Amino acid sequence: MRATIKHINTKALSHNLQTLSRLAPQSQCIAVIKANAYGCEATKILSALKQADLFAVAAIEEALAIRSADSDNIVADKPIILLEGAFEESEIQLAYDNDCELVVGSQRQLEWLLASKYHFSRVWFKLDSGMGRLGFQVDSDDNNAEVAMEKLLTHYKQEEIVIMTHFSDADNPDSTKTLSQIACFDSFAEKYPRCQQSLCASAGTLKYPQAHRNYIRLGIALYGASPFADKVGKDFGLQPVMSLKSRIMSVKTFKAGSPIGYGEQYRLPTDGKIAICELGYADGYLRSITSETPILVNGTEYKTAGRVAMDMTAIIVDDEVKEGDEVIAWGEGLPIEIIANAANTISYQLMTTVTERPQKVIEF
Ligand SMILES: Cc1ncc(COP(=O)(O)O)c(C=O)c1O
Repeated sequence: MRATIKHINTKALSHNLQTLSRLAPQSQCIAVIKANAYGCEATKILSALKQADLFAVAAIEEALAIRSADSDNIVADKPIILLEGAFEESEIQLAYDNDCELVVGSQRQLEWLLASKYHFSRVWFKLDSGMGRLGFQVDSDDNNAEVAMEKLLTHYKQEEIVIMTHFSDADNPDSTKTLSQIACFDSFAEKYPRCQQSLCASAGTLKYPQAHRNYIRLGIALYGASPFADKVGKDFGLQPVMSLKSRIMSVKTFKAGSPIGYGEQYRLPTDGKIAICELGYADGYLRSITSETPILVNGTEYKTAGRVAMDMTAIIVDDEVKEGDEVIAWGEGLPIEIIANAANTISYQLMTTVTERPQKVIEF
């Protein structure tokens, strides 16, 4: 059997939640567990997130999977926010019956909600302060935020309404866009002092304390990775939740100039050893991960050689490495952000594209 493992460390998850909530002590924490908790096995890690105030997923089907897996009622008393709201009108009732809360971010979603006999105790009103995706706009004729809010307020007179927005560039150290999004948000939200506010995801939480407000929405940082390209999770006291582990299946000696792997993309500069590990792009170790990307064997850093194949990856090693040794492709001891850079992507994508093939080990 292949030894490739997606290892999930739930203690790290609890630690990260605690670390991030300390940064925003006045705010309630929403644990974003969409896309199978960023690949970290949403239905199996709920007990590590008991301290979260609320949960959020992208869509109702993800919320239903969590509700039905929660036989021990770990999060039964916590609402689950549907960040993209209802995709179909029938989902309003499903959301209501399953203690889910709706984000309203389009005319159609607003109409469905207002026409519904189901009355929610809290509604999330999405303002597009500059992301340019979902949400109502302050300067629009046909999608006007004030018009939409007035309609909502006439139906929801007593219930909690949270004005929320999402930053498009909070992870970019050189951008001032977030400040203008906060200004846009504030000039709208000040007209509705009875509403609560939510602006920050991970990057905003780490970088813009002035925008913490009532609720922070924690995704990538909860899983131990930095949203900023020039930093790693450890820089913020975060611990990696997911490690992709494998094993050395063969070690061989080659002459200088020998080609390694498909397309002869790598040639050994001197005589040396190449190890093959049981990890490939069909496990989620992307083919775009370039030669000479760091990889750990028995805790020591080596470099990959040549193209990642479907089931195997070559590593330039020395005499210390033996068949059967443990490999860590990212996670404990090797920040996922480094591997994401090498693959010209982001840690979000690496975490969410680990496939079903690796064994899953969840450590409590
Ligand atoms: C509306 C919303 N809030 C919060 C998050 C969490 O973002 P992050 O993973 O950057 O913390 C997301 C993720 O895409 C989102 O769409």
